[in-house]
Amino acid sequence: MARIDTFQSLLSARRTRRDFAGTPLSRVQVETLLACGLGASGDGQMVVPSAGALYPMHLFLVAGDVEGLLPGLHGWSSPEGLGPLLQSGDLRPGLQQAALEEQPWVGRAAALIVITADIGAANAAFHEQQPDGKRGERYAAMEAGAIAQSLYLGTEVMGLAGVLVGGIDDAEISVALDLPDDLTPLALFAVGNR
Ligand SMILES: Cc1cc2nc3c(=O)[nH]c(=O)nc-3n(C[C@H](O)[C@H](O)[C@H](O)COP(=O)(O)O)c2cc1C
Repeated sequence: MARIDTFQSLLSARRTRRDFAGTPLSRVQVETLLACGLGASGDGQMVVPSAGALYPMHLFLVAGDVEGLLPGLHGWSSPEGLGPLLQSGDLRPGLQQAALEEQPWVGRAAALIVITADIGAANAAFHEQQPDGKRGERYAAMEAGAIAQSLYLGTEVMGLAGVLVGGIDDAEISVALDLPDDLTPLALFAVGNR
């Protein structure tokens, strides 16, 4: 079990880092990071909490410069791991275009993790908790935050650089990645070497 002072040091060391070295990541590094964000914990649950254990969150990997992985969009599930290539090519320029304002680090990241949610499923599960039936939206945002913090901490432990990019045009991201209609992109997590 980690000591609390070790954990607090990790929390304090966590930083948003947007200066990427421009060198490749390994497939193992990105898979490890994905497992930090939304990995099976081995007891039937996941490493991040989920309201009602619904797990409406889905991660995708946009590989740009990752050794052992073709550039493009890969699905992720755990414990299965990375899925087949869903779309090939360097998708980073399209994501940078879909970021709100100038965010050049989106295009320079070696890889980006796309945090998405099935908001419809979440709203359906928790509709009785709120008059407008949209309590699931709030829960999905909370769960995205938990995933983001796990990604930040994993990045820190691995000595990588990472930034959570919540400033995105949802529709543009969906089009750029041809995401399934039932998934809403909530944020990107851009990662690379320091
Ligand atoms: C919800 C959320 C959205 C964010 N969106 C962006 C973003 O679009 N672009 C960016 O460069 N940083 C983004 N950040 C990172 C913040 O700028 C960063 O966390 C803040 O400056 C504090 O720095 P720190 O993370 O090093 O503590 C976001 C952070 C959060 C929590």
